[in-house]
Amino acid sequence: MKKIILTALIAMGVVSYGHAAGNADAGKAKVAVCGACHGADGNSAAPNFPKLAGQGEKYLLKQLTNIKNGERTVLEMTGLLSGFNDQDLADIAAYFASQNGTVGYADKEKAAMGEQIYRAGIADRGIAACAGCHSPTGKGNAPAGFPKLGGQHAPYTVKQLKDFRDSKRANDPNGMMRENVYTMRDDEIEAVSQYIQGLH
Ligand code: HEC
Ligand code: HEC
Repeated sequence: MKKIILTALIAMGVVSYGHAAGNADAGKAKVAVCGACHGADGNSAAPNFPKLAGQGEKYLLKQLTNIKNGERTVLEMTGLLSGFNDQDLADIAAYFASQNGTVGYADKEKAAMGEQIYRAGIADRGIAACAGCHSPTGKGNAPAGFPKLGGQHAPYTVKQLKDFRDSKRANDPNGMMRENVYTMRDDEIEAVSQYIQGLH
């Protein structure tokens, strides 16, 4: 009987199978050390530190796991996650996902070119529209693990795009990002990142 109930709950999505479900309240008690860089509610003030507030839970948990395992290098966070187990990371992801993300302002001149790239891609170099995976409003696709981009600090986004382009960040499933941006120029990266900063 217990097994039948559990199977039903998994099917309904109430219980997630395979990894622990996160608890935002429990997570809140574990993020004191993160606030200095990411802001207590996940809206970081410094443009090189990513905003985490309102980011998809699945994406956040994947990044935390990748950073802890060294599949994604974040020097500033060296050793910081080693004391957290899978449940802790799930709780932390749930906490930041439950916060409201703030939006910034885009440099209008650069954002015009950025909007074109975001919505239509760059067809002659096979660069697919960002909107296709990250959604037209930049909210991403949380169940698929496609991150929210809207409102993110432009300098952080610039760094990620260059890191994917140069394969310094290589934790994207099937090379989805690396393959898409490997021919992108610096001015194009700057433009689309400005557009994203004001996108909501
Ligand atoms: C000393 C500053 C610092 C502290 C403290 C810190 N981080 Fe970070 N974190 C960073 C930086 C910088 C990056 C981005 C690195 C890069 O450029 O790829 C990052 C990236 C991340 C990312 C990936 C975000 C994304 O959009 O992909 C997550 C998730 C994260 N941190 C969570 C945490 C959590 C949880 C804590 C607390 C346990 C924490 N960080 C503490 C500096 C910090
Ligand atoms: C085919 C789907 C797809 C397309 C098209 C795509 N992305 Fe992504 N993107 C992803 C996935 C999946 C990830 C998360 C990788 C991971 O799990 O670490 C990602 C991650 C990112 C990140 C890192 C976010 C963070 O918080 O660190 C940025 C920035 C980004 N994409 C920007 C773009 C831009 C700009 C474009 C258009 C030029 C684009 N993406 C096109 C799927 C896509």
